[in-house]
Amino acid sequence: AHIWRGVINEYADLLPAHLTEKTVTLGEGGTPLVAARRLNELTGAEVYLKVEGMNPTGSFKDRGMTAAISAAAARGAKVVVCASTGNTSASAAAYATAAGMTCAVLVPDGKIAMGKLSQAIAHGATLLQVDGNFDDCLVAARKLAEAYPVELVNSVNPDRIEGQKTASFEVVDALGSAPDIHALPVGNAGNITAYWKGYREYLAAGRIDRLPQMWGFQAAGAAPIVKGHPIDAPETIATAIRIGNPASWAQAEAARDESGGVIEAVTDDEILAAHRILSAEVGVFVEPASAAGAAGLLKRAEQGLVPAGARVVITVTGHGLKDPQWALRGADGSEVTPQRISADVVSIADALGL
Ligand code: F0G
Repeated sequence: AHIWRGVINEYADLLPAHLTEKTVTLGEGGTPLVAARRLNELTGAEVYLKVEGMNPTGSFKDRGMTAAISAAAARGAKVVVCASTGNTSASAAAYATAAGMTCAVLVPDGKIAMGKLSQAIAHGATLLQVDGNFDDCLVAARKLAEAYPVELVNSVNPDRIEGQKTASFEVVDALGSAPDIHALPVGNAGNITAYWKGYREYLAAGRIDRLPQMWGFQAAGAAPIVKGHPIDAPETIATAIRIGNPASWAQAEAARDESGGVIEAVTDDEILAAHRILSAEVGVFVEPASAAGAAGLLKRAEQGLVPAGARVVITVTGHGLKDPQWALRGADGSEVTPQRISADVVSIADALGL
């Protein structure tokens, strides 16, 4: 039997050697690539979801964090820090714990989904809510790591990108080729950078003979790359990607341009509509930010911009349980509450219309 050993061990030949000195893993990666027939019907394409909510802490961040924490361990680091909209903090806290390190996280004031906050606390991180947004947190975390004996584990740390690029390898290993289009949400832009690096390295290694187009989607109220300038006060219900000045901005533009792809904006309404389709019509529960890739694909399909039969992979980046409040609303925004009923089979059958 093959036991999945985490992304560093599985892809050691395509990763820097320093990651294998003191590997810290929680068994991340090896996530499902799910055929989404309902999305085929809606787009005319052949659509697969890379379900990154299946990682140990419920988001794709674990791929990068195993690498960042392993590198920190090899250097003998004792303390790590990150800025986060939530998922990075949950992941950093878990991997730091596994490595016996202390973890500090800087999160924006009041805009973190409860599931993520509780993960960071459960794993014993020191959580500081900064009076500012994510971009302010990242500036502070970078300065802290420059001036104090603390390792920065945000995606500006190149080891994070190395770990995250393994998702491209898995997509190709599952499909047997590169997709025509790879769609995903864009926040701080580390993930689109990592996927593009992964695909290019598989091309160089002769594992694929062509590259996908990279289609990135930002939330309309937090779309600096689309607008062409930083956004001072980014706003979106997709708090994970509520970012106004992405650290990997230039790399995201390179991925877009070199691949012949796009980076476009989707509104909160479009994100929530896609979120609903994924959960209620496909069967995959994701957090709102994670639905941005599907929202973008659906939007471009409506505009006639998705070639018939194109093979599309959408990365759904984080689990729905991270931020479940959005499921408890009807399409009109009203609160959904369970119907109360007596423990009587006839009444229950009645309520079910049987
Ligand atoms: N989806 C989710 C669920 C995320 O948590 C993030 C980023 C993204 C998409 C965007 O990825 O930043 O690489 O472009 N979350 C970071 C965090 C910022 O702090 O957890 P990106």
